[in-house]
Amino acid sequence: MHKTIAVGVIGTGGMGTRHAHNLHRLVPGAAVAGTSDVDRDRAARVAAECGGAAVFDDPYQLIEDPTVNAVLIASTDSTHAAFVRACLEAGKPVMCEKPLAETAQDAWHLVQAEQALGRRLVAVGLMRRFDPQHLAVERAVRAGKVGRGLMFKGTHRNAKVPTHLPGRVVITNSAVHDIDSARWLLGQEVTEVFVRGVRTRPHFSGETVDMLLLQLALTDGCLATVEVTSAAGYGYEVCAEVVGETGTVTTAQPADAVVRLNGQSATDVDQIWLDRFRQAYVDELVGWVESVQTGTSFRGASAWDGYVSQVVTDACIEALNTGQPVQVPTPETPALYREDAAPEVVGAD
Ligand SMILES: NC(=O)c1ccc[n+]([C@@H]2O[C@H](COP(=O)([O-])OP(=O)(O)OC[C@H]3O[C@@H](n4cnc5c(N)ncnc54)[C@H](O)[C@@H]3O)[C@@H](O)[C@H]2O)c1
Repeated sequence: MHKTIAVGVIGTGGMGTRHAHNLHRLVPGAAVAGTSDVDRDRAARVAAECGGAAVFDDPYQLIEDPTVNAVLIASTDSTHAAFVRACLEAGKPVMCEKPLAETAQDAWHLVQAEQALGRRLVAVGLMRRFDPQHLAVERAVRAGKVGRGLMFKGTHRNAKVPTHLPGRVVITNSAVHDIDSARWLLGQEVTEVFVRGVRTRPHFSGETVDMLLLQLALTDGCLATVEVTSAAGYGYEVCAEVVGETGTVTTAQPADAVVRLNGQSATDVDQIWLDRFRQAYVDELVGWVESVQTGTSFRGASAWDGYVSQVVTDACIEALNTGQPVQVPTPETPALYREDAAPEVVGAD
């Protein structure tokens, strides 16, 4: 019987509230120990909804509090690196929403700090790795059903876009997930990127780039394309395909119904990511809490994956801005993060 993991949640906006509710209601062996948000009322509301958890005015006090075994960070991007560092200093496992940091250099410092500790404490919320549809593709590829994976093709569509949406935000907030899928599903690293982007509506602000096409070259001769359309209109949709030597594997909607009516045949399309990835968000936390309880490595994205994502998204932003292909410097994966390395202990003290 493993002990219950008491999780402190920093940032109780859209994602933090969903994660806190999931921990409280749907993740076995987890409890919400406390919440913290610059909007105290919001933190208090979520704490009350999660069994009367404590409310911390200072997120660093939440991290250090002895009743908190592990920390989930879902605050604004710019706060992530400092909170993750504090968790490493406190020796506490941490699930950090993407991005791990705002710059590759900050992410690299966190990787170095974790390596100095010699154990993996950091998990990053790149949740495609827990999406049942993506996992089905991964299983087929790993089983060799289409021979060696050669190309990843990702489609990422949002229904609506704010009238002001800089291309770099589309890359760091949306495309980052598909870049991670390409690395994960092909098992290769990105070596070069080329990115084109356009503003699809005249009334969008001048800086807006709401439709992007990313082309990636990966190690071992692999390729990837990622289409991100932010004003698709019809709904939220994410699809992934791996083209292999002998066939292709594509995500498919499980357990859906086709309605035929009035001369049409239709299935529903999700409207936002919280619906599309409902199960992935739960399974990600189930996997994380299990890893903390059992002292085994989290099978989702690590600090290393968070760092590499940042390096690739930085290169994509440069490619978008310059219109030129950009080389991606990816150093060799350190032993702590290699799949063939001995399992590292992540457990809470
Ligand atoms: N994995 C995914 O699919 C996914 C989806 C959406 C957002 N995200 C990430 O989740 C994070 C939160 O996004 P969101 O959509 O919930 O945003 P949000 O704006 O709804 O919530 C952010 C919350 O952080 C709080 N906050 C800001 N600074 C803080 C600080 N210093 N200390 C404590 N709280 C602070 C804000 O008050 C707000 O309540 C972001 O990093 C975002 O990139 C991930």
